[in-house]
Parts: sequence; structure tokens; C-alpha cells
Amino acid sequence: MTFATKITGTGAAFPARRVTNESLARQLAELGVETSDAWIRERTGIQARCFTDLSDARETNAGLAAAASMKALEMAGKSPRDIDQIILGTCSPEATLPAIACWLQQKIGATRAWAMDINAACTGFVYGIITAAQFIHSGQTRTALVVGSEVLHTLLDWKDRASCILFGDAAGAAILERAPDDSPGRIIDWHLMSDGNHADLLYIPTPLGEPGVPMLEEKALKGKLTMNGREIFKVAVRTLTDCARQVLAKQGLGISDVDWFVPHQANLRILEAVAQRLGIPSDKTLINVDRYGNTSSATIPTVLDEAVRDGRIQPGQLLLLDAFGAGFTYGAVLIRW
Ligand code: UT7
Repeated sequence: MTFATKITGTGAAFPARRVTNESLARQLAELGVETSDAWIRERTGIQARCFTDLSDARETNAGLAAAASMKALEMAGKSPRDIDQIILGTCSPEATLPAIACWLQQKIGATRAWAMDINAACTGFVYGIITAAQFIHSGQTRTALVVGSEVLHTLLDWKDRASCILFGDAAGAAILERAPDDSPGRIIDWHLMSDGNHADLLYIPTPLGEPGVPMLEEKALKGKLTMNGREIFKVAVRTLTDCARQVLAKQGLGISDVDWFVPHQANLRILEAVAQRLGIPSDKTLINVDRYGNTSSATIPTVLDEAVRDGRIQPGQLLLLDAFGAGFTYGAVLIRW
């Protein structure tokens, strides 16, 4: 017997410190790095982002994840002890081990669960829900908690003005539950991909690597994010468009069937270019990159949570999630809410 997967709760958490473009530009100027609110808005659509205070336990990676998870559990009417499985997408863990998912488990008291991290960069949440859905499908898991959580600002190179203006910190969570196979509201289908040929476009070297490995060229600061923004832009537009088309074609659906386009929030210009190529009207695209920047694996669950809570997303509507991230990793998911 197999089962379908339904999302029954969502939650989001952001650090208290909000940094506007003006304020970031002032701080960067002190380091001799020139940027402006006008440039950031025009090239990215970002106006502000939130940065964690890591000395505050509520704002560590697991702290943000716990706050988002508790909200998602409350919406689903579940308690931490109901969770069988925790999957946490992150590319900014404060430690290489143990998994942030285990710290999260400890914080919320999900004592029955098994927990692991996924590093698929910005695609982490999408990979996470599809992984959890397989365990639910096979009957092994009844209730899963899937989280995207990042404290990426700690890994930014403040001298690289093209990348340090893009990212913010946040966590988003979802509760996934077993549903009847013919349930009207469920994850319908997905198309996941990765292409290691683009691995050197975006990376964060650890102190462990050896010289001679492309990702440890002189220009790369160990422990800091290195990015080829212009190339990523092109690859992102192409692959997001392609993934969305592939998953719709698998189900014999068209763009006009989609009620909400839920893309990874990397740069407003990327979202607009993809929506335009797909033919999705702007009022059907969920956006939070303007207020929070690129929060990597947290973008999709946080923007989803916002639209669920303010009532834009209604039962029966068709959602198209579409993500890309370092790796490169890609994935599109169709959900009937
Ligand atoms: O989750 C995935 C994460 N990464 C991404 O999504 C990155 C995708 N790429 C992008 O978002 C864009 O490529 C950027 C926002 C990174 C850059 O925008 P762009 O329109 O591609 O600018 P560009 O790299 O072509 O640079 C244009 C100019 C350059 O100056 P010159 O060479 O024309 O004199 C840059 O040095 O803009 C300059 N520039 C800046 N100026 C002011 C780059 N960053 C800044 C800045 N402030 N922050």
C-alpha cells in the first residue's frame, strides 16, 4: 500500500536585526567597498535582509529552525513527539557535525524522530520535501518535519560587493503528513536535477581542501562564499524555466493551470525573467526577496508560509515550486494545496 503526502503546516522565522540597503552600504563603505541602495534595488530588487546575532541562541541556525518548526507544528495541530523524521536543508551549518537537524531535534524535543541534514544549497527545501515524501509514500513515515534554515551572512566575503549584498538569514519549515493516495490536496509530482559541471560557479571552501582543486583557487577565501554572479544568472534562468516545463509536461498540465508560482528568491530579475519565459503573470508569483534577500534553502518555505497565512493560497489551488542552487541543483514540484 502506498500513500500521498500533504503539507499540513508551515512556519517561518527571521532574526530581529533588519539591515536595509542604505545601512549595509554605510557599513561596507567603512571597509572601502562601494555600493548603493539604488544599485542593489535596480540589479536585484532587494531592499533589506535580516542578519542573525549568533550569540543569541534563538538566532543560531537551529534556533531559527526551531522557531519556524514550532509555528508549522502549531498550524498542523501536531506536537514535536508526533514527528517521525526531520530533514533540514542548510548550507550554512555552524558546525560540520553533528547535523543541525539534531540540534533542532534537541531544541524542540522531537524525541521519536530520526534527523539529518541535506546540503543542496538553495534547493535544500525542495530536495527535502521530495525525500520525505518518499518515506511517506512507502509507509515508513507518517509525519515529517522539513526545514530550510540558513545563517549565511556569517559566510559572506564583505569585500565582494556582488555577493555580500544578496544574502540574508532565515528559516522556513513545513509539516508533511501521510494522506490517502487519491487525496485532493497533495504533492503531485516533481522533477529534480543536478549538474556538477557548474560546481565552480558558487562555493564555500572549508579549511580542509588542498591547493590545486579548482574551488580553492587563490581568489577563494576559505570559509567564505565565492560566486560567479553573471554566469549563475544565465544558468538559473535557463534551468528554472526548463524544470518548471518538465514537471508540468509530466502531468499534462499547462501554465494556465498554475495558481501560484513559488520560485527560489535569488534576485527579482531572475524571477521576472523566468516568469516571463514561462508566461506566468506577475500577480501569480510569490515574492519576498525584496524584504529578506536570498535566504537560500529558506526562501521557498518562508514565502510559502507568508502566502498560506495571509490567505492567498487556498485549498484546491495548484502550486509550482521551482528552485536552483549551488551544485548546481535544481528542482520543481507541483502541489495541489
Ligand atoms: O542562490 C544563488 C545565488 N546567486 C545568485 O543568484 C547570483 C545571480 N546573479 C545576480 O544576481 C547578478 O549577476 C548580480 C546581482 C550578482 C550582479 O548583477 P549584474 O547585473 O549581473 O552585474 P554585473 O556582475 O554585470 O556587474 C555590473 C557592474 C560591474 O561594474 P563594471 O565592471 O561594469 O564597472 C560590477 O563591478 O556592477 C558592479 N557591481 C556593483 N556596483 C555597485 C557589482 N556589484 C555591485 C554592487 N554595487 N553591490
